[in-house]
Amino acid sequence: MKRFLAIAAMTILAASCTQSKAPKALVLYYSQTGNTEVVAKALQASLGADIEAILPVVPYDGDFQATIERSRKEMDEGAFPEIQPLSKDIKSYDIIFLGFPVWFGTYAPPIETLINSADFSGKKVVPFCTFGSGGLETSAEALKAKLPNSEILPGYGVRAARLDAVPKEIDRFLKEGKFIEGEVEPLEAFSAPSPATEEEAAIFDAAVGDYPMIKAKADEVRLRDIPGGKEYIFTAKDTSRFGNEEPVEKTITVYVLAEDGKAPVFTKVAR
Ligand SMILES: Cc1cc2nc3c(=O)[nH]c(=O)nc-3n(C[C@H](O)[C@H](O)[C@H](O)COP(=O)(O)O)c2cc1C
Repeated sequence: MKRFLAIAAMTILAASCTQSKAPKALVLYYSQTGNTEVVAKALQASLGADIEAILPVVPYDGDFQATIERSRKEMDEGAFPEIQPLSKDIKSYDIIFLGFPVWFGTYAPPIETLINSADFSGKKVVPFCTFGSGGLETSAEALKAKLPNSEILPGYGVRAARLDAVPKEIDRFLKEGKFIEGEVEPLEAFSAPSPATEEEAAIFDAAVGDYPMIKAKADEVRLRDIPGGKEYIFTAKDTSRFGNEEPVEKTITVYVLAEDGKAPVFTKVAR
């Protein structure tokens, strides 16, 4: 009996030692026009995490042009908007999914206010964002510079025009990152770059369409097969202009998805 009790006690002890506490996740996001909120809610639903919106004291409730002018001024002057106090305590979470719209190539100003005032040290931070054409990579770099004591993990970004792809992409993203359980078929590597053929150049043109911030012709391409279609990474020389600036020729990288039976679309642009 004594021996049985000793073994039982050891088994219970061993079990409690190996049982690690599941990391506690918070989805924290700013969204002006609701796009980033769609991603935030999809993350929250899949993760079963807590969620909170970051709310500026004075909302950005003007039209697009008014928002451009206000935020440009705030960023130029380093005078970031006040935000309402959070109801959640960042200290009690291990991992923060931090969401925002990309404004001028980086996270929107309310995020700057948040990270200037809250303590993210020792936390894992997973950036997620929505954008017109791109900006996840540049935003993640800016976060890394701003939060040297946090671990900035690979993030998720999606074009505002592709929000219908969010449920499927979020599922893969969370499984690949081991944030949720489940297997995903690994994707093959992209081919080495080669000059775009006429057919590939036409796919690039169709994907970019008349998007105003891209004025470019395909140069080189890498591609791979994916379940249900093909993915391309094009490099191209772009001569689009921002506002009244003189156009400067710049090499851009454009990611294109061509699903079987659907028109090709670009998924992001890296500048
Ligand atoms: C002030 C401002 C600046 C923006 N700058 C960019 C940009 O640099 N790159 C980009 O791809 N999209 C840019 N956008 C588009 C937004 O990122 C996009 O509409 C986003 O999905 C909005 O998210 P929300 O609905 O959560 O606010 C900008 C939008 C605004 C209002």
